[in-house]
Amino acid sequence: MGQTKAIWWVFLGILAMILPVKAQLAVGFYSKSCPRAESIVRSTVQSYYKADPTIAAGLLRLHFHDCFVQGCDGSVLIMDERAEINAGPNMGLRGFEVVDDAKAQLENLCPGVVSCADILALATRDAVDLSDGPSWSVPTGRRDGRVSMSFQAEDLPSPFEPIDVHIQKFAEKGLTEEDLVTLVGAHTIGRTDCQLFSYRLQNFTSTGNPDPTINPSFLTQLRTLCPLDGDPFRGVAMDKDSQLRFDNSFFKNLVNGNGVLESDQRLWQHASTKDIVQRYAGNLRGLLGLRFNYEFKKAMVKLSSLDVKTGTQGEIRKLCSQFNNQ
Ligand code: HEM
Ligand SMILES: *[C@@H]1O[C@H](CO)[C@@H](O)[C@H](O)[C@H]1NC(C)=O
Repeated sequence: MGQTKAIWWVFLGILAMILPVKAQLAVGFYSKSCPRAESIVRSTVQSYYKADPTIAAGLLRLHFHDCFVQGCDGSVLIMDERAEINAGPNMGLRGFEVVDDAKAQLENLCPGVVSCADILALATRDAVDLSDGPSWSVPTGRRDGRVSMSFQAEDLPSPFEPIDVHIQKFAEKGLTEEDLVTLVGAHTIGRTDCQLFSYRLQNFTSTGNPDPTINPSFLTQLRTLCPLDGDPFRGVAMDKDSQLRFDNSFFKNLVNGNGVLESDQRLWQHASTKDIVQRYAGNLRGLLGLRFNYEFKKAMVKLSSLDVKTGTQGEIRKLCSQFNNQ
């Protein structure tokens, strides 16, 4: 090779290194700019979890609702009349104070460096870990969005929709049927309001009878928890056996007709999702290696990378509940 040619190649090589095509998320993104970022998020989640372990479920759902609307950009955290928080499907979201608290500490330590979207992604990982679930490395470097509009959140998956619609909504985000079942396994922790499933308990679809897929002894329990004249906002565990533990018992419950939300139970009645539920319920280590915890962390990395803003897009908010300079 001639000398000019060699120099040319070296030049191209250096150019390729300094001109990344598109900024991407990276594990340890803050290791130089704010080395304590991850440990501060961790200790914050830990202290809230100690006081109230149900906060873990709140954070996990909050992150999902952030990522499904405009990507994981903290848009769900904005407190404003027209913001996503006011959309119907976002009713009952919780965990905001954990993110705000971690943010305040990080602004003291490294102002303007750590995004709210990243804080929520990290807090979610820690929340699942603290609940005895899997842990994983969270690629970071998300930037916070400058838009949050409630109408954009109206299309989040609803528990009244058929599985085909959920498959479609996940496919639009590049998520497979397996990702859908895996991620809905998040309902192994957390609660739901009586009002979101009590229609299953009597005269279901005007048949005069309850939803026939509910296990009879579970039906009795649910009717006691959510009587006709009861509190529509009463919270009921979505995994009757271990509301606070991140495990596969949610799937065992679906197999036994002990699902609470109608759409959760339908994962067991639907031809293309049934097998996946079955495998998670058994937690087999078969050829596919389909183990819930293992698949869950992979699916979470996918979910928390949806349509992220990086590089010079968006901003790093000073307060997670407000856009900068408004
Ligand atoms: C088809 C998709 C999904 C539907 C229809 C759905 C629906 C729901 C509903 C109706 C509730 C109860 C809300 C309330 O009563 O206030 C809920 C709670 C929850 N969801 Fe989902 N969800 C879906 C997927 C997911 C995913 C992908 C995740 C996370 C990866 C998730 C995490 C949670 C958690 C942790 C809770 C409990 C929240 C708490 O205790 O505050 N969900 N979901
Ligand atoms: C069930 O609902 C239908 C339609 O709303 C109604 O006509 C019927 O009387 C109800 N049956 C019972 C047993 O309540």
